[in-house]
Amino acid sequence: MSTEWVRNRRLRQTPSMRRLVREVRLSREQLIYPLFVVPGAKVRDPIPSMPGIDHFSCDTVLEEVREIVDLGLQAVLVFGEPEVKDAEGSAAWSADAPVQRAVSAIKEHFPDLVVITDVCLCAYTLSGHCGVVEGERILNDPTLPLLAQTALSHVRAGADIVAPSDMMDGHVAAIRAALDDAGFSQTPILGYSAKYASAFYGPFREAEDSTPAFGDRRSYQMDPGNLREALREVQADIDEGADMVMVKPALAYLDVVRAVSEKTTVPVVAYNVSGEYAMIKAAAAQGWIDERQSVCEVLTAVIRAGAQAIISYHAKDVARWMDAGQWE
Ligand code: PBG
Repeated sequence: MSTEWVRNRRLRQTPSMRRLVREVRLSREQLIYPLFVVPGAKVRDPIPSMPGIDHFSCDTVLEEVREIVDLGLQAVLVFGEPEVKDAEGSAAWSADAPVQRAVSAIKEHFPDLVVITDVCLCAYTLSGHCGVVEGERILNDPTLPLLAQTALSHVRAGADIVAPSDMMDGHVAAIRAALDDAGFSQTPILGYSAKYASAFYGPFREAEDSTPAFGDRRSYQMDPGNLREALREVQADIDEGADMVMVKPALAYLDVVRAVSEKTTVPVVAYNVSGEYAMIKAAAAQGWIDERQSVCEVLTAVIRAGAQAIISYHAKDVARWMDAGQWE
C-alpha cells in the first residue's frame, strides 16, 4: 500500500540519525557562567536558594575559575558584594572592592578567559535600587556618571566586557564615553537591554542582598506584557554603542529573544536567571523532573529562539555532562 502522507518518523529512528538532522545544538563555548564574589578570605559559602552555586572571596574564586577553565568554559560574568553599602553605592567603583580585586586576580592567572562584569548599583546602595534615590524616586541622569565610573573601574581592573544591568536610559552612551575617554575604546559593552521586572530574580537578590528596601523595580525594568518595547530598548542600546544586547529572563521571554534576533544584527545573549535555575534544581531534587534532560531542553530552546550565548548557572553541570558523554 502506498501512502501519500509524509513519514516524519523515518528520521527519528536512531540516536545518530536524530543527531544528524538536529537543527540547533548547544556548545559549551556559548555558555557564560556567573560568579559571586564577596569580601574576606577563604570564603566558599553555598547560596541556599541556588544549590550548587557559592559565594567566593578573591582567593577562593581562583580555584573555582581553574575548575571552570578545565571544563572548557570560556566566559564568566562577575557579580560582587561590598564590605559596606552607602546611599550612592560608592563601593561599586572602588578599586579594591571584591569585584575589581577578583577580576584582576582572574585575568592575571587566566588571561584567555573572557571576563564580563555586571555594572549596577543595587548590591551597593542602602536602598537596594539600581540608581540614585530621591524620596521614593529612582533618578535616571544622576545615576549615569556613577555607572560610568563603575564600568571604568572594572575595565581598569581588567574586565574584557562590561554589562550594565541597571536599565537607566542613556547608560550605554555614558559608559561608552567614559571608556573611550580613558583610552578603552576597544572594550565591548553588553547591554542588559530588554530586562523585565521579574519574580525570577528572587534567588539572585537573596544571594546579592540586593532586594529593594522599598517599592520594586517596575519604574525602570520592563513590563512583562511588552514585546515591541523590548525592540525599542534594544535599539536604544545599539544606537548608544552597545556591541551585544541581552534579553532577560530567558525562558518566559523566548518570543523576545526570537524578535530581537530577527530585528537586530548584533549578538544576542539570553540570561537564564536564578529563578529559572532554582525551579529546575528544586523539582529535580524532589525527583519530579529529570535535571539533565530539563536543562538540555531549556538551553536548546534558548539557542533555537535565536540567542548566540546564554548566561547560565547550569554551565558547569552542562560541561560535565558533555565530558561524560551524557549530553544528547
Ligand atoms: C542587578 C542584577 C539582577 C540580576 C542580574 N543583575 C537583579 C535585579 O535586577 O534585581 C538577576 C540575575 C538572576 O536572577 O540570575 N540589577
